Amino acid sequence: MHSVISPGDFVIDATCGNGQDTVFLAQLTGRQGKVMAFDIQAEAIEKTRQLLLKHQCLEQVILIEDSHANLGAYKPEKIKAAMFNLGYLPGGDHNIITSSNDTIAALKTIMDNLVLGGVVTIVGYPGYDAGQQELNEISKYLSGLTQKNFEIINIKAINQRNNPPQILVCSRINGGI
Ligand SMILES: C[S@@+](CC[C@H](N)C(=O)[O-])C[C@H]1O[C@@H](n2cnc3c(N)ncnc32)[C@H](O)[C@@H]1O
Repeated sequence: MHSVISPGDFVIDATCGNGQDTVFLAQLTGRQGKVMAFDIQAEAIEKTRQLLLKHQCLEQVILIEDSHANLGAYKPEKIKAAMFNLGYLPGGDHNIITSSNDTIAALKTIMDNLVLGGVVTIVGYPGYDAGQQELNEISKYLSGLTQKNFEIINIKAINQRNNPPQILVCSRINGGI
C-alpha cells in the first residue's frame, strides 16, 4: 500500500475493527485525502475514533457504522485502494463475523470505482470453517473478473501450521474510472 497510496488519495477501510488499518491508511492519504472506514459494531467505530485521535489523523477519516455491503449508498468515487481484514473484532464478540455475501457486494462496488493502478487487499482466515468458506466464495467471485482489467494474486504461506491467514491482492491494470 505504501507504493500505491499518495497524499490526497481516496481510500476505503471496509472493516475498521480496532482501527490499526484505518490509521495506516489515514497516514498515507494525509489531510488532503480521505479514508472511508466501515464497521457494523459501534464498539469498533469508537475504538477506531480513539486511535485516530491519538495519532492526530481523525480529520481525514469518515467513520461509518454500517455494513460495507451498503458501500454504494455512500457514493465512493475514484477509489485508489481498499482494505478488507475479514473475521471478527479482536478482543470483541467472536460471533460477529464478516460474510461472503456482504464482502462480495462491497467488492463489486469497489471494483467498479477503482482507478487504474488502484489496489484492493483482502486478508482472510481459513483457520475456521466459515472463514475458509468465505475465502472460497470470494476467490470464486474474483476469479471471474476479466484478466484484461484485473490482476489477482493469492498469497499463502505454505510452511506454516494451523491454516495461516491468506492475502488476496487485486490490482486494476486496465480501464477504470
Ligand atoms: C478482523 S476485524 C478488523 C480489524 C481491523 N482492520 C484493525 O485494523 O483492527 C473484522 C471487523 O469486521 C467487522 N465486520 C463484520 N461484518 C462487517 C460488515 N458487513 N461491514 C463492515 N464491517 C464488518 C467486524 O465488526 C470486525 O470489527
